[in-house]
Amino acid sequence: MELSKRATAIAESMTLAIDAKAKKMHSQGIAVIGFGAGEPDFDTPVYIRDAAKEALDAGYTRYTPAAGTLALRQAICDKLERDNGLHYEPKQIVVSNGAKHSLYNTFATLLNPGDEVIIPAPYWVSYPEQVKMCDGVPVFVETKEENGFLMDMGELERAITPRTKAICLCNPCNPTGALYHRKALEEIARIAVAHDLFVVSDEIYEKLVYTDEPYVSIASLGQEIYDRTILINGASKAYAMTGWRIGYAAAPNAVAKVMSNLQSQATSAPNAVAQFATMAALQGPQDEVAYMTREFHARRDMLCEMIAAIPGLSCHTPEGAFYIMMNIHELFGRKYHGSVITDSMTFSDLLLDGVQVAVVPGIAFGADDFVRLSYATSQENIQEGMKRIAAFVNELE
Ligand SMILES: Cc1ncc(COP(=O)(O)O)c(C=O)c1O
Repeated sequence: MELSKRATAIAESMTLAIDAKAKKMHSQGIAVIGFGAGEPDFDTPVYIRDAAKEALDAGYTRYTPAAGTLALRQAICDKLERDNGLHYEPKQIVVSNGAKHSLYNTFATLLNPGDEVIIPAPYWVSYPEQVKMCDGVPVFVETKEENGFLMDMGELERAITPRTKAICLCNPCNPTGALYHRKALEEIARIAVAHDLFVVSDEIYEKLVYTDEPYVSIASLGQEIYDRTILINGASKAYAMTGWRIGYAAAPNAVAKVMSNLQSQATSAPNAVAQFATMAALQGPQDEVAYMTREFHARRDMLCEMIAAIPGLSCHTPEGAFYIMMNIHELFGRKYHGSVITDSMTFSDLLLDGVQVAVVPGIAFGADDFVRLSYATSQENIQEGMKRIAAFVNELE
């Protein structure tokens, strides 16, 4: 029997597939070092877990309003005001099953068949697939390592056509760690307003930045850009809450209303206890977030230094998130035990089989000269993993 053409055209998430392969090897007793993870390796802070236990005992086990509890949406508004200088009302917030779900809801809310969404490449794997799932067309703007993986504004403008509906911005970016600062965001905002486009601003890694300047949300750069921004954030990365599945969109009234209706028919509200825990996360002390950020910062420095010390490998120093794009281009054409490295896939396969180190091939993000290393793993693992990578490179003919 024929299945949906649209659904069967969707690619499997390659990042999750590699992670699954590494976890399987691990369960077979093979000492794999995993640089594939897309989630913090820390446990959810105790005060958040305690809040969830309290919620259970207090009987918060029923359906909540489809867009999330009023109390959580108010806590999100307070966070956006406090951290980002943004004023939202609870009716502008839609809480969903993770930021990934919020993004899907966003594309489903914005797009008509054939509408184009501009996505800077290398891109997070789910953006183009989600756009396609919503009958849209992803249009890529290539970024270059030598420009810090930031979009060239001329290229952004040249990618705009009469069908362009939105620019999808991941700031800071998975997989490159690139961070758009105020001046670049002002340029993007100017272009979005001039061409009457929405901006989907994925700010899920907002807390994980390693610069002295405060983080800037594009929606805070004036009323006109606020009116066309769908801001995406959530609990997963900042609070080590990936399994709790809480993300949210903050949007203009009309967008939030349609998104809320859509969610009410598709999934209803996310898990009630997880909503309660997220409220505690946002309202509680933020020192554990600061601790985790400092630790990621130290790991980033260590990893960059170790990559630079291996001949044939290099990387641009990322300013945010917990990923590094390691440039492997110089190794193309060389052989490991007789097998030639031709691209990011062959490199990743040989590395996993040869020295049991899991990385994600850059082709998954549209960047075949690179592999992505996540530093959401301990400093000891980073040291051991890089030692193995150095030995692997050393053995290449
Ligand atoms: C850029 C980006 N956006 C969104 C998400 C999804 O986050 P969540 O776990 O809240 O669905 C991820 C997770 O890897 C991500 O990297």
